[in-house]
Amino acid sequence: SDKLGVFGNPIKHSLSPRIHSLFAEQTGRHVDYQRLLVSPYGFSSAVAGQFSQGLVGANVTVPFKQAAYRIVTQHLGSAAHSGAVNTLISAPHGGLIGANTDGDGLVAALKSKGVSLAGRRILLLGAGGASRGVMPALNAEKPDVIWVWNRTPSRAEQLASLFDSAQVLRHWSSARKPDLIINATSASLFGESLALPEHLLDADTVGYDMVYSRDATAFQSQFKASGGGVCFDGLRMLVEQAAVSFSLWFSCDKPETEAIYHQLRNELA
Ligand code: ATR
Repeated sequence: SDKLGVFGNPIKHSLSPRIHSLFAEQTGRHVDYQRLLVSPYGFSSAVAGQFSQGLVGANVTVPFKQAAYRIVTQHLGSAAHSGAVNTLISAPHGGLIGANTDGDGLVAALKSKGVSLAGRRILLLGAGGASRGVMPALNAEKPDVIWVWNRTPSRAEQLASLFDSAQVLRHWSSARKPDLIINATSASLFGESLALPEHLLDADTVGYDMVYSRDATAFQSQFKASGGGVCFDGLRMLVEQAAVSFSLWFSCDKPETEAIYHQLRNELA
């Protein structure tokens, strides 16, 4: 069977092994996909060690996506512009290829929910690795604008300067109502809440949290309390980014995601 895995810390609750085993089943492949816990400073040696022992591909999650960007020998597609890599592919003649499937995953997830992006106003919360990773794909959908808000404004400025539809949002008062608000901060992972500007939300505002949970996420609760409309958690994005990674490792079509997404949602319950 083909050895795959996901590097991260923490990693024990990762759903990726489950998702990829369902893709393997669907496509008739034998896959051994492991959770790979890495110490904060051990990322590059862990990656080298695992690939030398026959890993054919891997995912990378928090907090190593930017480190992964730095260790690959070649960037695929939008990964070169994002500074963050979530997918590693063993290169045919040695070295590693880095891709970022988070952005395509997010766009596919939004489309599956009937949310279009072309001509829309998007408010992206956060300017860390998660935001950097999805920015190229969001920008490619030709939204009217992507406002980037970040607790630390200088990081928002850096990120926004790289993409033509992006603008930094320094003050809530200078924004118009967005059609879509995407949470790419890690606030909830630290149990911290994110103050949402109530005057920017109404029942037509759509929310998307990159974090998922069995119950409502902190962002989903806050979004609702602040007057927003429907707000999705990140489970669909997780499945969609995984499907793109799978297609890269095996040079195959993207696996079907709809049924697998619903199955995982039920398994979470
Ligand atoms: P990294 O910062 O390592 O790239 P990330 O999870 O992609 O990892 O980024 C964390 C994001 O969540 C950042 O935008 C961070 O804001 P800062 O740049 O100001 O640190 C944001 N974040 C984390 N905790 C937050 C909180 N309590 N409120 C608002 N934003 C928060």
